[in-house]
Formats: sequence, C-alpha cells, structure tokens
Amino acid sequence: MRTSTFRHLVVVTLNLAWTVPALAQPKWGDAALGSRQYDDFERPRACAGCHREFFPQWQMSMMSQAYTHEWDEIEYFELAVPHAEREPKVAGVKAGCNGCHTPIAFLAGDVPPPKPQKRSRANESVSCDVCHTISGRAEGTPFNFSYISSPGKTKYGPREGVESPHHNTKKLELIRQPEFCGNCHNEQSPYGMWVKATQIEYAEGPYPKMGLRCHDCHMPVATGRVASMSGEDLPLHQHLFFGAHVMAKIRGAVELRLVPDRLEATPGEKVKLTLYAFNAKAGHKIPTGSVEDRELWVHVEAVDAKGNRYHLPVDPKGFPGEETTIGSNQPAWFDLGVAQGKADFAGIPRDGVPEGSRIYRMAYLNPKGEMTIMQWYTASFGPDYRIGPLETKTDSYTFKIPGKAPLGPLTVKATLYYRLLVKPVGEYLKVPAEEYEDRVMNEAEARIELVD
Ligand code: HEC
Ligand code: HEC
Ligand code: HEC
Ligand code: HEC
Ligand code: HEC
Repeated sequence: MRTSTFRHLVVVTLNLAWTVPALAQPKWGDAALGSRQYDDFERPRACAGCHREFFPQWQMSMMSQAYTHEWDEIEYFELAVPHAEREPKVAGVKAGCNGCHTPIAFLAGDVPPPKPQKRSRANESVSCDVCHTISGRAEGTPFNFSYISSPGKTKYGPREGVESPHHNTKKLELIRQPEFCGNCHNEQSPYGMWVKATQIEYAEGPYPKMGLRCHDCHMPVATGRVASMSGEDLPLHQHLFFGAHVMAKIRGAVELRLVPDRLEATPGEKVKLTLYAFNAKAGHKIPTGSVEDRELWVHVEAVDAKGNRYHLPVDPKGFPGEETTIGSNQPAWFDLGVAQGKADFAGIPRDGVPEGSRIYRMAYLNPKGEMTIMQWYTASFGPDYRIGPLETKTDSYTFKIPGKAPLGPLTVKATLYYRLLVKPVGEYLKVPAEEYEDRVMNEAEARIELVD
C-alpha cells in the first residue's frame, strides 16, 4: 500500500519535471530525440519549384545522401546498430548517428529508421528544411547535433526583410557562422574523444583571422537567382557542399615538392630526398572529419635509366606511435568482430598499401588500444600526423643507389593517394569499390643524374 502511493507520487513529480521545462526550453542534442514529427518538416521537393538552382546542387551533394549512401548504410546497420545493442556504453549511437545523418528521423524518434530501400522520409537526409529551420544552438563548442530545430512557416536565412509567397523568412546570424556547420561537423564519442573536429581544427587555424569561412570554400559565391520569381541576379552562396567525394575538390589540395640532397650521385652512394607536403587548400586538417576511414598515403619510387624500379620506404622519425602512420599489412581491425558478434575474428590486413609508405593519419583506438574504424568506439588516439591548414609536413626518404645501377638519369616520383576508406575494411564489408579506390591527389618528381 505504502509503496504504491509512494511510487505514484514519484510518477507525478517526474511528469511535472518533464513537461514544464520542456515547453519553456528549446531542445538540442540527445534531448531532442522524438520531440517532433516527420510532418513538421517540408520535403525538399516543396522547395524545388521556386529555388530551382539550389535544388539540383543539393541533390548532387553528400548532404542529400547522408542516410542513403551505401557505406553509411553498411556502417550504421551492420556495425553501429548491432554494437549499440551489445555494448551499453555505446547504446546511444543507435539513435545518435541520425541526429546528423537524417535529422528529421532523429527528431521524429524513429529509431532505427527504415532502411534506405524502403524509401521512407528518413532518406531526405540533411534536407533544405533541416538547415533552414535551425533557429539556434547550444552554448559553447558546437558538436553532436547541438542545433535547435524549430520547424514551421519561418525559414531562417542570411538576409533581412526577404519576402516569399510560400513562407516567412527570418535573418539568423548563426547560419553564416562556421559554428553552424560545427553542430554536425564536430563529434564526440561516448568516451569523450573528438572523433570529428573539422570546425575546431578550422577555429585553431589561420583562416578565421582572414575572414574566410567554411561557406566560402564549400558554398562558393557565384551570381544566381535566389528563387525563380526573384527580380534580379545576386551574388549567392551556391549549395555545392563539395568535399572528399569530389575529385575536383581534393585534387591538388596538398601540394608536393620532392628535393634530393644532391642532383648528381654515383652508383653505390646514398641520397636523401625530402618530401614537402603543403596543405594549400583546406581550411582544416587533411584528412578531416571521418579521419578513421580516410587513407592519405604516399608512394615513392625510383626508376633508373634501364627502367628498374625501387620502392623507397619513408625514414621513420621515431615519435611514439609512429607505426600507425607507416603502411603495414599486419592483421588489424579486430573489433569488427566485436560489433558483429564474431568472437573468433582474426582481423584483416591493416592498410593495403606497400609496407613502409607514409600515411598522413591519426589512428582511432578502441578501449583495448587497437585501431578501430568505428569512431563511436574510440577511447584514445594515436599520434596526429595529419597536415594542418597552411602547414607543411616534411619526410625524408634515404635511398642507397645500387652499385650496379646504370649511369644516366634516376627519376624519383612521389605520388599522394587518397582513399575514402581503408581498402581492406572496404573489401571485408563489401562496400562498393569506388569508396576505396586509389585517387591521385598530387605527385612530384625529382631527377638525379648518375655519374662516374
Ligand atoms: C544537420 C547536420 C549538418 C549541418 C548543419 C552541416 N552538415 Fe555538412 N554534412 C553532414 C553530414 C551528415 C554529411 C555526410 C554525408 C555522408 O557522407 O554521409 C555532410 C557532408 C558535408 C560535406 C561533404 C563531405 C564529403 O566527404 O564529401 C561537406 C563539404 C559539408 N558537409 C560541408 C558543410 C558546411 C560547409 C556546413 C555549414 C555551412 C555544413 N556542412 C553543415 C551534416 C551537416
Ligand atoms: C547544410 C545546410 C543547408 C542545406 C541542406 C541547405 N541550405 Fe540553403 N543555405 C545554407 C546556408 C549556410 C546559407 C547561407 C550562406 C551564407 O550566406 O553565408 C543558405 C542560404 C540559402 C538561401 C538564401 C540565399 C541568399 O543569399 O539569399 C536560400 C534561398 C536557400 N539557402 C535555400 C535552400 C534550399 C532550397 C535548399 C535545398 C535544396 C537548401 N537551401 C539546403 C545552408 C543549407
Ligand atoms: C512559392 C515559391 C517558394 C517556395 C515553394 C519556397 N520558397 Fe523560399 N523563397 C522564395 C522567395 C521568392 C524568396 C525570396 C527571394 C528574393 O528575395 O529574391 C525565398 C527566400 C528563401 C530563403 C532566404 C531567406 C533569407 O534570409 O535570405 C530561404 C532560406 C528559403 N527561401 C528557404 C526555403 C525552403 C527551405 C523551402 C522549402 C521548404 C522554400 N524556401 C520554398 C520562394 C519560395
Ligand atoms: C580555405 C578553404 C576551406 C575552408 C575555409 C574549409 N574547407 Fe573544408 N575542405 C576544403 C578542401 C580543399 C577540402 C578537400 C580536401 C580534404 O578532403 O581534406 C575540404 C574537405 C572538407 C570535407 C571532407 C573531408 C573528408 O575527408 O570527408 C568536409 C566535411 C569539410 N571540408 C567541411 C568543412 C567545414 C565544416 C569547414 C568550416 C568549419 C570547412 N570545411 C572549411 C577547403 C576548405
Ligand atoms: C555530429 C554529427 C555526426 C554524428 C553523430 C555521426 N556522424 Fe557520420 N558523419 C558526419 C559528417 C559531418 C560526415 C561527413 C564529413 C566527413 O567525412 O568529413 C560523416 C561521415 C560518415 C561516414 C563516411 C561517409 C563517407 O561517404 O565516407 C559514415 C560511414 C558515417 N558518417 C556513419 C556514421 C555512423 C554509423 C554514426 C553513428 C555511430 C555517425 N556517422 C554519427 C556527422 C556525424
């Protein structure tokens, strides 16, 4: 009797505690789960008729595929969801992944959402109405979907006093700020690690002082029409959102120069070449964002006058954890077995690159200290050997020229490759091959004359 009255009281208090502040306070992050319905948001097609230029731009970008893209689907449904169901510490990611990848499904409390083949509204991914009904954000560093969503008649945009027959508009300073992007481009794992830090890296770099924002590089300004009925063309931030999936964006983002310590040498001698890798184009580190997935690696090869080829491994610098940044094909990624419930999983080759190649990388390590592809399972990091904005990393390659090498030119070539996903992981999880193919980001060449 007593207990049940007591329990009743507790329920009443809890109810009050939940409802009163909920009405008064906007919600963000995990607390916003289930606070809305799908119908609160307009479909992208509802914007297409008037905003004719932005719509196909957005459709071509990763924003419109954040939920449907095959690698996203595989990682979410085959690794994250089963792992969340097995491991209480990471249980939150079953809902949380979608706070950034399909915000309307997250806000509607649809966990997990139907698979992409079901063609549900979750497929709208990061839609027009998601971004243009963001009305604010939590204080402090933005991360883990810390935006405040206020869907409805009012669309938030960059200008004052804009009139539209379809909606009201309101100027929002935030939409022009890098922190707006940081709501989804910074991510903390359940272990408190910054597993995505694009906006943080940007803020610590040289570009804010120059007044250059994310928008200026990923939504560059060109003249166009805001809407089909707008009276005049204006300089507008185009909705291109091009990044690592677009060759034209990554090509040349890192500039290379390969300089030998002498331009003439004798067979049998040692030459030392220095490779300068300059992040000339990105406002953050390269790679950024999904750093656990990306593989940015250099292949250095010498070719003599008779066409003999020699692979040059990088000279190790000797810093702690450096082995994670030098190509190895030892077994790794053991925790794929943990996520998939395969206790006897013996791992797969780590990098799928020639041994000894430099990889510009920061390894993500699970609670056991092993390299992981599952950013949500990251409890610590290896050394950060990525290239910061306007930073130049240097590495040396020492080559002992074979005594029998023919006289004449010896050409040394460095090729910088970009893979969206670690190749052996892509192969193991049957991700489409284009996600882990080698894409040439840049190359450099040096010529040494072999003389007597
Ligand atoms: C509501 C969350 C959200 C906001 C806000 C957001 N993004 Fe994104 N963005 C994503 C997600 C999720 C992806 C990943 C799509 C994928 O590959 O699955 C993405 C992808 C991208 C890409 C493509 C990356 C690639 O690998 O090709 C670029 C570039 C980008 N965003 C830039 C921006 C910029 C600039 C802003 C701010 C103006 C911004 N984003 C705001 C969620 C967001
Ligand atoms: C990832 C977030 C994001 C998505 C998705 C997005 N936008 Fe935007 N949009 C922005 C940002 C940021 C700006 C402001 C850029 C600036 O001025 O710096 C903007 C600006 C605009 C503007 C005002 C242009 C001007 O200068 O007056 C319109 C109109 C617009 N977007 C429509 C759309 C439509 C339609 C879609 C879908 C097809 C869409 N947006 C998708 C972030 C987004
Ligand atoms: C019936 C036509 C129509 C439809 C449909 C429409 N818009 Fe607009 N929208 C306009 C017009 C017109 C403007 C103002 C253009 C101008 O000032 O030149 C505008 C302006 C905007 C702006 C700019 C606000 C600012 O501060 O600069 C945003 C953001 C926007 N629309 C978002 C959307 C989104 C998101 C959708 C779909 C959910 C949508 N619109 C659907 C006609 C439309
Ligand atoms: C000075 C221009 C510049 C600025 C500023 C800039 N970026 Fe980039 N960004 C690039 C270039 C170039 C690339 C392609 C190289 C790469 O993939 O790292 C890129 C790549 C990306 C990618 C894809 C990375 C990956 O591997 O998936 C994302 C996401 C991204 N940027 C988001 C942002 C966000 C968010 C901001 C602001 C906080 C920002 N960028 C600021 C130039 C810029
Ligand atoms: C804080 C927002 C956020 C959360 C939470 C988040 N992601 Fe992402 N995710 C992004 C952004 C932004 C990108 C693309 C930017 C980049 O790669 O630099 C991305 C990229 C990815 C990619 C790589 C896409 C590609 O094409 O290479 C996969 C796969 C992915 N996320 C899956 C997940 C899974 C699974 C979860 C949950 C465990 C998750 N994400 C949680 C924001 C988020």
